[in-house]
Amino acid sequence: MQPKLSVNIGKIKLKNPVTVASGTFGYAEEFGDFINLKELGAIVTKTITLKPRQGNPPPRTCETPAGMLNSIGLENPGLEAFIREKLPLLKKIGVPIIVSISSEDDAQEFTVLARRLDKIKEVAAIELNISCPNIKLASKPVSQLASLSTGTPAHRHTGKLISQDPNSTYALVKAVRKVTQKTIITKLSPNVTDITEIAMAAQNAGSDAVSLINTLTAISIDIETRKPKIAMVTAGLSGPAIRPVAVRMVWEAYQKIKIPIIGMGGIIDISSALEFIIAGATAISVGTANFINPKVSVEIIEGLKEYLIKNKIKDIRTLIGSLKI
Ligand SMILES: Cc1cc2nc3c(=O)[nH]c(=O)nc-3n(C[C@H](O)[C@H](O)[C@H](O)COP(=O)(O)O)c2cc1C
Repeated sequence: MQPKLSVNIGKIKLKNPVTVASGTFGYAEEFGDFINLKELGAIVTKTITLKPRQGNPPPRTCETPAGMLNSIGLENPGLEAFIREKLPLLKKIGVPIIVSISSEDDAQEFTVLARRLDKIKEVAAIELNISCPNIKLASKPVSQLASLSTGTPAHRHTGKLISQDPNSTYALVKAVRKVTQKTIITKLSPNVTDITEIAMAAQNAGSDAVSLINTLTAISIDIETRKPKIAMVTAGLSGPAIRPVAVRMVWEAYQKIKIPIIGMGGIIDISSALEFIIAGATAISVGTANFINPKVSVEIIEGLKEYLIKNKIKDIRTLIGSLKI
């Protein structure tokens, strides 16, 4: 008998727990030549903003031991061009489409984006990227949102990421919750002391799930020129190098929150995907590995089936958080 692979994230049902991480799969069209996109559990789009963005100046990426640095700076065509040019193909695929949204410097934009996407039937869920380490949000809008939506004391956002502060996270998620019925997934930054308090803030404000983790802030230096390898100096580290940190954060969050976790960070094969599920992730996302092997996500789906059959597990959900200590 075929094992059951389906899982629920908020209101959406994924036929299997394998998704692709925002920013590493474009808007899916780039990958259609390599894999049957219909096989994926869900597709998370590259983060979009209200207005088009050119992103950061080059160099924007470099390789590091067991990973890479990126400082793309949310290059994207903007909301309306996304709806006009990218969404039609995504709609045709027939798997849940999770649209990742963010803002350069205005937290209010999250609500504008969410309100517009709420009206589009084929958008299954909205992922709030409040953790992009290459973008800093200004102070004013978050404090406005805080007092506006929650009654939480107005919080001045001093150049930190929204997801580096529980009050800001709460205020932003709460504000978006008010304007959309769609499943909300909040993507958190690992660049914090205690991931669980941020995950709890997202949950308490009405997020249906959290995505863990975005990239770790890092620097790489060219010793000949003594210049940073990335134009913006700091950048986000991803790939297998960050996996043990990501698994630890998923495990910590799993013990504190009730909403599902989408785990990511250095997943490159079936064994690394399973680590996340055993630690507590309901679903997983493949990121950097897509650049090395564009077929890796579907290979992981196959591998999951084989693992479940081999271990006589009928339903993948029994594996979630099954870590034995
Ligand atoms: C080139 C690149 C671009 C990324 N762009 C985004 C993005 O637009 N939005 C986002 O939420 N995360 C973005 N990420 C972070 C990934 O979605 C993921 O959280 C992170 O890379 C960890 O997973 P991985 O190690 O499997 O890549 C990006 C990562 C990379 C490598």
